[in-house]
Amino acid sequence: MKIAMIGTGYVGLVTGTCFAEFGHHVTCVDNVEEKITTLQKGDIPIYEPGLDALVAKNAAEGRLQFTTDLAEAVPDAEAVFIAVGTPTSRRGDGYADLTYIYAAAKELAEHLHGYTVIVDKSTVPVGTARQVARIIKETNSAADFDVASNPEFLREGAALADFMRPDRVVIGVESERSEQVLREIYQPLYLRDTPIVSTSIETAELTKYAANAFLAVKISFINEIASVCEAVGADVTDLAKGIGMDGRIGSKFLHPGPGYGGSCFPKDTLALMRLVQEYGENLRIVEAAVEVNAAQKARMVKKIRDALNGSETGKTIAVLGLTFKPETDDMRDAPALTILPALLEKGAKLRVHDPKGMEEAKKYLPEGIEYVDDAYAACQRADAVVLMTEWNQYRALDLERLKTDMKELTFIDLRNVYEPTSLTSLGFNYVGVGRK
Ligand code: UDX
Repeated sequence: MKIAMIGTGYVGLVTGTCFAEFGHHVTCVDNVEEKITTLQKGDIPIYEPGLDALVAKNAAEGRLQFTTDLAEAVPDAEAVFIAVGTPTSRRGDGYADLTYIYAAAKELAEHLHGYTVIVDKSTVPVGTARQVARIIKETNSAADFDVASNPEFLREGAALADFMRPDRVVIGVESERSEQVLREIYQPLYLRDTPIVSTSIETAELTKYAANAFLAVKISFINEIASVCEAVGADVTDLAKGIGMDGRIGSKFLHPGPGYGGSCFPKDTLALMRLVQEYGENLRIVEAAVEVNAAQKARMVKKIRDALNGSETGKTIAVLGLTFKPETDDMRDAPALTILPALLEKGAKLRVHDPKGMEEAKKYLPEGIEYVDDAYAACQRADAVVLMTEWNQYRALDLERLKTDMKELTFIDLRNVYEPTSLTSLGFNYVGVGRK
C-alpha cells in the first residue's frame, strides 16, 4: 500500500519507518527542508534506539522516501497520515495548538487524487478529524476521501518495540471502506494477534487522552503514596509490589519519582482538562494529578535541601540524568528543568551529566551549570549526588569509587534505583522517594 506521512517528528518518523518495515511504500513529508535533507543523507534528527538502522534499511530497500513536496507524496497515496506537532498553545491556556494540523489538511487537500483516507495520527482534541474533513471539503470539493483517527501509544525510547508489538491498535472510522484501508495497513500486526479496536472517530480521539490521563493519575497516585510512606515510615517499593500484583491494578507505572515529564503527559492532561470544560464537564481526578505532579517536583527540591542539612548554598551537587526518562535526548517538561534552576537560584554549584541529553538540556537550562562528559567526573568532590534519570549506566555505579571521590557521602536517588543498604553499608546517607 502507498502511504504519505506528513510530519517527520518523533511520531511521524517512527510510524512511517515502521509502516515501511511492514512492506508498505511510505513517503514522509516535512516542510522543514533541513530535516528532509538530513533524512535523505541517511541521518536522523532525533535519538530513538534502533531507528537509524531501520530508516537506513527501508530507504535502501526503496520503501521509504523523504520529500518537502506534498505533490510527490499525496496523489498516489491510499492513506495520508497527519503526524505534525500539536504543542500546548502559546496563549498559555492549556489548549492544544492545532494550527499545524489545519495547515496540513488545507495543503494536502489540493493534491488528493482518487479515494484517500486521511488519518489523524497526532494527539488531537475530540472533533479535530471533523474539522480536518471540513477544511478538505472547502479546499477541494471534488475530493473523494474519508477521515479517520488512529492515535499512537508509543513510549519514547521504546517506540519501535511498542509499534511492532502493541497491546492494541485503536482505529476511529466512520465508513467500512476506510476501516478496510486501516486494517490492511496494520495487517502484519493482525497476523500476530494484535487486537484492533474499531471505534467511532470521537471515541478514538478521546481514547488517546484518556489513556495518557489515566497513566498520569497512576504516577501521581504513587508519588503521593510515596510521601505518605515517608510520613509513616513505610516503604513504597514494597507497597507498589503489594498492590501491583493485583491484576486489577497492575504493576506498571507505579514507580515513584521526581514527577512525570515529557512531550505527552503534561501537554495532554492540560488539553484534556480544557476540552472537558468546554463541554461543561470536569475531570477533577486529572486536575489533582496535574497539581500533585507540580508539587512533586517542588518536594524534590526540599528533599535535596534537607539531605544537605537544610541549605544547598555553596554546595556542589552532582546530577546524573537530565532527560525526562532514559533512552531519549528529549528534555521537554523534564523534572530537571524545574528542580535544577531552583537549586541554582539558592547558590548550589551544579555539575551535571546525561548520556544523550546534554546538548538539548543546554537550550533549556539557565547559565551557570557545569556539563561534564563522565558521570564520575561529575561526582568528584561533590557534597551530594542526585540520581535524576534512571539511565542504565547509573544503575551499577562503582560505589567504592564514589566513596573515595566525593567530599560528603550523600546519595539522593530520585528513581529508587538502589537498594538503600548497598549505600548505607558503605557509610552513605541514602535518600530515596517514599523509603525509610
Ligand atoms: C507516554 C505514554 O506512555 C505513551 O503511550 C504516549 O503515547 C506518549 O506518552 P512517553 O512520554 O514516551 O510515553 O513516556 P513514559 O514512559 O510513559 O513516561 C512518561 C513520564 O512518566 C516520564 O517522565 C517517566 O519518568 C514518568 N514515569 C513513568 C514515572 O515517574 N513513573 C512511572 O511509573 C512511569
